[in-house]
Amino acid sequence: MLNDNSTPMTAKDYDEKISQTIPYYSEFYRQTLDVIEQCGFDEIYWLDLGCGTGTLEEQAFQKFPAVHFVLVDPSEKMLEQAKFKLENRSVKFVCAMSDSVQYENCFDVVTAIQSHHYMREQKRKKATECVYHALKKGGIYINFENIVSEDEDIKAFELLRWGRYQQRHGKTAEEALEHNARCGKNYFPLTMAQHIQLLKDTGFRKVHIFWSSYMQMGIYGIK
Ligand SMILES: C[S@@+](CC[C@H](N)C(=O)[O-])C[C@H]1O[C@@H](n2cnc3c(N)ncnc32)[C@H](O)[C@@H]1O
Repeated sequence: MLNDNSTPMTAKDYDEKISQTIPYYSEFYRQTLDVIEQCGFDEIYWLDLGCGTGTLEEQAFQKFPAVHFVLVDPSEKMLEQAKFKLENRSVKFVCAMSDSVQYENCFDVVTAIQSHHYMREQKRKKATECVYHALKKGGIYINFENIVSEDEDIKAFELLRWGRYQQRHGKTAEEALEHNARCGKNYFPLTMAQHIQLLKDTGFRKVHIFWSSYMQMGIYGIK
């Protein structure tokens, strides 16, 4: 890893730069929080995998009065930022990869927002099994992730659109191209059908894509 985490941004720059890189990023949080609100939990035990700088949690604390978080990330620097942001909140921090967490029937909610695409197939499968084990029966897994078309022409077309988005938001043409070159090398997007299949194969009894753009989607699975 060249950086202090697996994204192309340093942990310190992450909050400023993420919306420059990923379209609709703030919508991912809005949609996630809305789905959780719809679940109607009185009290929420919530595991966030690949928590990054803790922005989702900051927003969740505003919305839900009784929420208990465990935040997991393999980057110490990301966790440092999250600890700073969530100072005085009751949060447990764990430095680990998603495929190594070992909880059993502990959580009402597990989230992984743009954090599982760095894993190749076997590790991602293992991570999804860890999520499943960590959830209580009836609990919900919410995953935002990159998507890709199986059609190579469409894939190239949408990557170019993504690059244009980044340029409109302050990146140079070269930086946008560099980012696109990470696809299949630094991160490994799945098709929508593969995302659905992964959750179904893991045992989730209800699976639904609840939001999508041209490069990312939100999916949930109910245990
Ligand atoms: C694009 S950031 C997303 C951060 C945060 N979830 C958000 O919504 O902004 C990706 C995060 O995933 C973490 N990450 C990378 N590989 C991971 C893995 N195998 N398991 C869990 N987290 C991972 C990175 O350290 C980084 O903090």
